Amino acid sequence: MPNLAKAQTAEEKAAVAKAGRQVRSDRGHILVDKVSIGFEKRGRRTPVVTETSIEIAPGQFVSILGPSGCGKSTLLNSVAGYIPPASGQITVDGKAVTGPGSDRGMVFQQYSLFPWKTVRENVAFGPRMLGRADAGVVADSFIEMVGLSKFAKRYPKELSGGMQQRVGIARALANYPSVLLMDEPFGALDSQTRHMMQESLLQIWAEFRTTVLFVTHDIEEAVFLGDRVLIMSASPGHIIADIEVDLPRPRAAALTDDCRFLQLRRRCHEHIRAESLKAFEQQNRL
Ligand SMILES: Nc1ncnc2c1ncn2[C@@H]1O[C@H](COP(=O)(O)OP(=O)(O)OP(=O)(O)O)[C@@H](O)[C@H]1O
Ligand SMILES: [Mg+2]
Repeated sequence: MPNLAKAQTAEEKAAVAKAGRQVRSDRGHILVDKVSIGFEKRGRRTPVVTETSIEIAPGQFVSILGPSGCGKSTLLNSVAGYIPPASGQITVDGKAVTGPGSDRGMVFQQYSLFPWKTVRENVAFGPRMLGRADAGVVADSFIEMVGLSKFAKRYPKELSGGMQQRVGIARALANYPSVLLMDEPFGALDSQTRHMMQESLLQIWAEFRTTVLFVTHDIEEAVFLGDRVLIMSASPGHIIADIEVDLPRPRAAALTDDCRFLQLRRRCHEHIRAESLKAFEQQNRL
């Protein structure tokens, strides 16, 4: 690991920090093979996700859209290893997922930082747990990556929502995961901050190239970020459409006015509208 402490100028520090983040694009192959997931409800097993198969290439950015309650978080939690599937199998880089692991980082909608730790301590936590003697240097590198070096000694409550979420991303990346699982990470942010975070996430991903599985309700966000948009049916959820987003990168806000973007957005909207109506009717029947 390069020595950030010995770097003098801002340029030197940036170069050292960048060199310290080993870019990887060869890992992060996800295979979800005929997976069904269910929960016990009133003594009966209720299916939540049924017969779902997804294959994601290393380094791909895949958005998942679906109506509320269709099982998006459940599926993501199964890839994370928190919820075992009832049938089928999930593998990451050929290894069966049997529980949580540092190869899969998770970022949630609610900022889940340790409130009693500083930004630096929060980000260093994962590498420290993995026994890395250079956990502080790793943390500094990722804090720099998300543009928060000046806030390294602050506590979460002293930061805005967007800043806390950037710390959450830095913390997840500091374990060098092959896969980053994001469950509506920008859902609690105002629209201006949300747009800034989307662009900033794409910049981070362009550098880090980890595989990203990104759950959202927001069609525009799904298309803007993804190489593909997977659309889930109303509950019990399964994939009903896999839409390739062949828009150029790097992407910036102006892309959302492009007619190809608008066409893709319309395609997603048509799928999601029918499923959302079904989900609404299902929820009203309960
Ligand atoms: N731990 C649990 N025990 C029992 N039922 C659960 C559990 N977690 C989720 N469910 C049920 O599974 C279904 C899918 O929930 P999930 O949170 O995966 O949906 P979602 O698509 O993420 O919804 P939203 O868009 O609102 O976040 C819901 O009916 C929910 O009530
Ligand atoms: Mg959810």
